Amino acid sequence: MTRSLMLITLLTAACGDPEPEHPAYTLDGDVSNGEAVYARTCQSCHAADGTGGDGSDLTETLPGMERDEVIEAVLDGIPGTTMVSYRSILTAQEIADVVSYIHVTWGS
Ligand code: HEC
Repeated sequence: MTRSLMLITLLTAACGDPEPEHPAYTLDGDVSNGEAVYARTCQSCHAADGTGGDGSDLTETLPGMERDEVIEAVLDGIPGTTMVSYRSILTAQEIADVVSYIHVTWGS
């Protein structure tokens, strides 16, 4: 009885949750796939160890950024810089994965 009530509560909670605006905002992407996406897509500017080059030093900037700012930088790019919007370059899942990867690796 208690178990089935709990299950119903869980199912209701899951169905009642609003869709996140973008899967990246949940930060529960696949970190190891995110590492592969980073190597393919981001490393040329931000370096494998995140310390930058043509791109900024993520080991310096990420700890001082809010999660949402990081996600928005990747989704929308940073106007006037070489950091472009990845919204239409990567899939939603790849963005969630790569943001999760940089967050667990260099984020606060
Ligand atoms: C063509 C070079 C280039 C590529 C490729 C690139 N970036 Fe950037 N990125 C930049 C530059 C330059 C900035 C700094 C912009 C500024 O001056 O604010 C930046 C900024 C950022 C920021 C905001 C924090 C900061 O350090 O300013 C994040 C987060 C970020 N990049 C993540 C990524 C991720 C994730 C990828 C791969 C999906 C990626 N970047 C690919 C050049 C690049």
